Amino acid sequence: MANVTVIGAQWGDEGKGKIVDWLSERADVVARFQGGHNAGHTLVVGEKVYKLSLLPSGIVRGTLSVIGNGVVLDPWHFRDEVAKLKGQGVDINPANLQIAETCPLILPFHRDLDGLREDASGAGKIGTTRRGIGPAYEDKVGRRAIRVCDLAHLDDLDLQIDRLTAHHEALRAGFNEKPIDRAQLMADLTEIAAFILPFVKPVWLTLNKAKAAGQRILFEGAQGTLLDIDHGTYPFVTSSNTVAGTAASGTGLGPNAAGFVLGIVKAYTTRVGSGPFPSEQENDIGQRLGERGHEFGTVTGRKRRCGWFDAVLVRQSVAVSGVTGIALTKLDVLDGFEELQICVGYKIGDQTFDYLPAHAQDQAKAEPIYESIDGWSDTTAGARSWADLPAQAIKYIRRIEELIGCPVTLVSTSPERDDTILVRDPFAD
Ligand code: GDP
Ligand code: IMO
Ligand code: MG
Repeated sequence: MANVTVIGAQWGDEGKGKIVDWLSERADVVARFQGGHNAGHTLVVGEKVYKLSLLPSGIVRGTLSVIGNGVVLDPWHFRDEVAKLKGQGVDINPANLQIAETCPLILPFHRDLDGLREDASGAGKIGTTRRGIGPAYEDKVGRRAIRVCDLAHLDDLDLQIDRLTAHHEALRAGFNEKPIDRAQLMADLTEIAAFILPFVKPVWLTLNKAKAAGQRILFEGAQGTLLDIDHGTYPFVTSSNTVAGTAASGTGLGPNAAGFVLGIVKAYTTRVGSGPFPSEQENDIGQRLGERGHEFGTVTGRKRRCGWFDAVLVRQSVAVSGVTGIALTKLDVLDGFEELQICVGYKIGDQTFDYLPAHAQDQAKAEPIYESIDGWSDTTAGARSWADLPAQAIKYIRRIEELIGCPVTLVSTSPERDDTILVRDPFAD
């Protein structure tokens, strides 16, 4: 099975976009399968920087790109992102970009509700991207959603709109928000439908045909395993399953389609938004990691929290996603540190743990147990072969492999597409 499923193995922003772009040269199709435009995937190609939130990263190379049914789609954002990328010279048309008919839509009142809830939550806020992701998934599971295929049947939508707006009116009233302007909503949907519909296809069929023809499918995960609705640091998570298993349900391919599961792992740890982060460094070290790694959110511009590599969390992600190999990114950010710490366990009260317990209170109290390892003074930045790496950087990589129980498949040493070391070709497996 020559498919590859890329997932984030931490709290997102591990460098999935760069790796998907790099791999997409050898893929026939690139598919997003969950999340929405809460993602921010950065691709650096020479002088050009592309930031994608909803579109699969394969589109930059012109590879057939599909948005699977597991994605929640804001149609107005879709139009804006297409326009932005076209402005950067990317060729986008219904022949190279497809949207699943069954994607639930993110509507303006989903975005409102996301913001209203965050504003009302004070210290308990999740720190969402405020893009309506959670409310849109709630309506999907609540069987109230308006889906992409409904855009072709707007005249026949009254009962569905009744059900959906009745639900939201009650919520909005609780926030003293003005009612939904139904006429405006229908006018907006009618207007955007004309732009969206040419891209809409039975994506499950496209992918199954590609699979039958022996084509290479590259699945592009968004967010990371610690943000997974089931396996993450609940409730400080996103509202979708981010694990590799979702590649199947979020596109309409069977579970044997995932192929090589490539976990993207940053050589240290970052998190944006609230929630537990045992190895966080709220000190000079965190500051230095943030500055060297340019750790600011792609979507919201928020400063990302930074800390040491947490081998316990990544080992857990490797297990719950069935990761075959990892791509270790941003190794260059660690250049020049005299000593590095790796979290190898937690102390909670008088107990020690070699995994992160499920309860939010335990997670908040988890104190990291560190192992020290010497850093390196030479640079890894821009290295393109194993031989270019300082011996101590190789030791760091080998120790990570041991601790997480998974081999390194790729190493990334700068934002640039080609500053990538291939250890083992995931498509060859
Ligand atoms: P994603 O959400 O997982 O796609 O990651 P983001 O794009 O949000 O964040 C990763 C950031 O790190 C982006 O700005 C990338 O250009 C950058 N990046 C990716 N790989 C490397 C690397 O190996 N070294 C450095 N210094 N930056 C990298
Ligand atoms: P990529 O694909 C990092 C975080 C938000 C917040 C939580 C819930 O670029 O790695 P949501 O808007 O999804 O309801 O927010 O999840 N979050 C991300 N953090 N990278 C992402 O995507 C994220 N997408 C959502 O900051 O803590
Ligand atoms: Mg990102």
